[in-house]
Amino acid sequence: MNWMAGHDARVGGCRWFMKYRNILGRDRHLTFELVYAIAAERDLKDIVETGCIRDKNMSWGGDGCSSIILSDLAFLLDGTLISVDIDREACRVAELVTEKWHIYRSVICSDSLLFFGKRNKEIDVLYLDSGDDPYLQLKEIESALPKVNRNGIILLDDVPTKGTMAIDYAVEQGWIVHTLVYQALLLHIDSLNKSYDGNEWAKSVSTIPSFSVYNEKEWDRIRQSIEEQR
Ligand SMILES: C[S@@+](CC[C@H](N)C(=O)[O-])C[C@H]1O[C@@H](n2cnc3c(N)ncnc32)[C@H](O)[C@@H]1O
Repeated sequence: MNWMAGHDARVGGCRWFMKYRNILGRDRHLTFELVYAIAAERDLKDIVETGCIRDKNMSWGGDGCSSIILSDLAFLLDGTLISVDIDREACRVAELVTEKWHIYRSVICSDSLLFFGKRNKEIDVLYLDSGDDPYLQLKEIESALPKVNRNGIILLDDVPTKGTMAIDYAVEQGWIVHTLVYQALLLHIDSLNKSYDGNEWAKSVSTIPSFSVYNEKEWDRIRQSIEEQR
């Protein structure tokens, strides 16, 4: 564990994340910051993302540059990030822009479903942001979920366009929506100390109250768009 960094993440609202707070678009700073805080709190190590950074001009506002954020998190946790992407050029870009953290990250050029089919190690933090297709995100979560640590974190990107089926599936499997803005952050019910009736998406039942960032207005807007898609 990078102790100084870990300590820094646990106190003062996750100072480690501050450099990303003002450059990220689509409210992703809210959910990524929570991932930092919870991962540091729970000492999570193994991160897997599908859909790596593909734009070397750094699309912080659009795509989100997740490979940079998660490589930095892997460094903070003294863990590892595996970025999986089907596109060779995207993999090349990801390798280039995360070179600084190369000890902590690997980039694998593969179809995400093939990758999860072969993966036999537990995943602590799962980030899904590959094709813009709700069915693909559903298939990804179906194949990844048996390997995800129940004390871990699932973060889904682009909820309004591709997240709804995956969320429904994860909720059926005992995961709850801890935070829902543009991304959805899910935690397993077993890792929380509150009861949950299994029918409703939980808004926020954080065991880490000081990190319970929540944007009520954004929730209502996204929730409405999800309802309209059903
Ligand atoms: C929206 S981009 C990812 C953006 C990135 N997460 C970021 O924050 O900058 C989606 C990526 O998913 C990749 N992709 C699409 N289908 C895939 C699949 N079946 N398996 C793996 N990667 C896939 C695409 O090649 C593309 O690079």
